Amino acid sequence: MATSVETDKDTTPVHARPVESTGTVRLNIWRGDEKGGEMVGYDVPVQEGMVVLDAVLWVQQHVDGDLAVRWNCKAAKCGSCSAEINGFPRLMCKTRLSGYAESEISVRPMHTFPVVKDLVTDVSWNYEVNKRIPKFTPSEKDLQDPEPWNIQQEDVERSIEFRKCIECFLCQDVCHVLRNHGRKDAFFGPRFMARVASLEMHPKDTADRRPLLKGEAGVNMCNITKCCTEVCPEHIHITDNAIIPLKERTADLYFDPVRWLGRKIQGK
Ligand code: SF4
Ligand code: F3S
Ligand code: FES
Repeated sequence: MATSVETDKDTTPVHARPVESTGTVRLNIWRGDEKGGEMVGYDVPVQEGMVVLDAVLWVQQHVDGDLAVRWNCKAAKCGSCSAEINGFPRLMCKTRLSGYAESEISVRPMHTFPVVKDLVTDVSWNYEVNKRIPKFTPSEKDLQDPEPWNIQQEDVERSIEFRKCIECFLCQDVCHVLRNHGRKDAFFGPRFMARVASLEMHPKDTADRRPLLKGEAGVNMCNITKCCTEVCPEHIHITDNAIIPLKERTADLYFDPVRWLGRKIQGK
């Protein structure tokens, strides 16, 4: 008996086939530059699985070709697509439209850094701060050692979470010391507290960054609000695992009564 088998005649790969739209979302995007700007609304057709970055790129492709947006990986790994979505600092490529019950979503550039255009901000201050942190400094003996270094697993685990940082600067954006008080002159910010912590906790590092922390890095400006930890897309425990231990180390050096007496005697 003859049988008929239904074959799929469409040779387009499944992932490249058009997906049914599931309605529209009103995307209000901040448009402007350093002189000022305004929110502009766009109706964007929604497809299943869409993230905010998809919607912004849809606007760029179909409505306003000159909409400025920075992105690279679309995989939450490059840290370029940081913005404020409904007032909360987030990666646009990691934020699904389906996560919002509202029919309108606002997208603004990061508040803490100067706007270049639309959603693109100038984050170069962060790179300048980074240069002021003394780099990894092993001892001369370790440098000459021809054998691979042995490091305890617990030492590896202590600092490995800080290495996950993708430099999205969302923590810098949300920290009130930088955001509301504008104290870029007095505080390096949570991202760089995590970087200092990763160096200070490395068992082969010999540099002492505590004077820097107490001085220009301004560790004491942080009053442990933990907003930085809340927004970190890599879930780094910036406050508990980096900032608080750094505060303790600095306090040990400067406020320990025995050390204080020692400094007095030596006239330091
Ligand atoms: Fe982004 Fe987290 Fe790194 Fe801050 S610590 S820059 S929030 S990944
Ligand atoms: Fe700022 Fe984080 Fe401290 S948000 S105040 S650096 S805990
Ligand atoms: Fe790379 Fe969003 S595009 S983190």
